[in-house]
Amino acid sequence: MAAKSKILIIGGTGYIGKFIVEASAMAGHPTHVLVRGSTLSDPAKSELINHFNTLGVIFVSGDLFVHESLVKAIKQVDVVISTIGHSLLPDQDRIISAIKEAGNVKRFFPSEYGNDVDRVHGIEPARTAFNAKAGIRRAVEAAQIPYTYVSSNFCSGWFLPSLAQPYLLEAAAPPKDKVVILGDGNFKAIFNVERDIATYIIKAVDDPRTLNKILYVRPLQNTYSYVDLVALWEQKYGKILDKSYVSEQQLLNDIQEAPVPLNLRLSIFYSVFVKGDQTNFDIESSFGVEATKLYPDVEYTTVDEFLNQFV
Ligand SMILES: NC(=O)c1ccc[n+]([C@@H]2O[C@H](COP(=O)([O-])OP(=O)(O)OC[C@H]3O[C@@H](n4cnc5c(N)ncnc54)[C@H](OP(=O)(O)O)[C@@H]3O)[C@@H](O)[C@H]2O)c1
Repeated sequence: MAAKSKILIIGGTGYIGKFIVEASAMAGHPTHVLVRGSTLSDPAKSELINHFNTLGVIFVSGDLFVHESLVKAIKQVDVVISTIGHSLLPDQDRIISAIKEAGNVKRFFPSEYGNDVDRVHGIEPARTAFNAKAGIRRAVEAAQIPYTYVSSNFCSGWFLPSLAQPYLLEAAAPPKDKVVILGDGNFKAIFNVERDIATYIIKAVDDPRTLNKILYVRPLQNTYSYVDLVALWEQKYGKILDKSYVSEQQLLNDIQEAPVPLNLRLSIFYSVFVKGDQTNFDIESSFGVEATKLYPDVEYTTVDEFLNQFV
């Protein structure tokens, strides 16, 4: 059997990154994480750092803004996965330069993990983020770096506790009385548990079928319209909720007036629930592959199962 690729995760102590680090180490890949000194000594991160230590993770000192540190870290591995956060997306051009200089990388996963940014209706402020991710795609291709782009749609842990309620930034549990439905509520969105997304990403690392392709995570059982999602919750909770509908025009007005970061959330919801951008196109073999078809052995968590914790 071929040796497992050595993986470097840049942003491994972040929200998505930590799941990918864990999946990589647990799958037996030599797993390196680029960390700044300030992160290693941050008390808020100590539990995570200890957890990574128990998994045998190799910490590599570095910073996205220190070129030599990136080149040095990249030279030690075969595959680079970026999970850099929202505000630094355009700065991933620094990773591209370092990968070019290092010259040894077999695969690069830029920071994406959402909608397919080449197939979205972007309005501000989401448009800026979509464009930043698309810009990095074009730079990767221009540099002829082997890649996989991951379109894993909505993270369940991020969006399902609120039942994807657009105007609730944080909610510990789904609504018990009233729900807001965007548009007519019939476009379908996709919700995936972060740990499952990470499992699929790590399976894709050494898979030739995902080379220079978009890896979509589109499980049939996790594909729900607002109307169906609310019906599922009503059935679990045992109560019919009051429903109010927000028209496209009303949502556009609300996006203009909403504060940061609610305006970002609403503009992403516009793309997903009003324009249907997670499900309004077919995956063609020329550009993409679907994770549950490639890896049917993965027992992913369904939306139905995820919501049970709130009953
Ligand atoms: N589809 C969804 O539902 C969903 C949800 C969330 C995120 N996402 C996407 O997932 C991706 C990652 O986002 P996230 O929220 O996981 O990011 P995040 O939590 O903000 O994590 C960013 C990571 O980058 C590290 N970092 C920051 N500055 C750095 C520097 N100068 N050098 C090296 N590392 C640095 C951070 O380190 P520290 O730990 O030291 O801060 C952290 O590990 C983004 O593309 C985002 O759009 C998608």
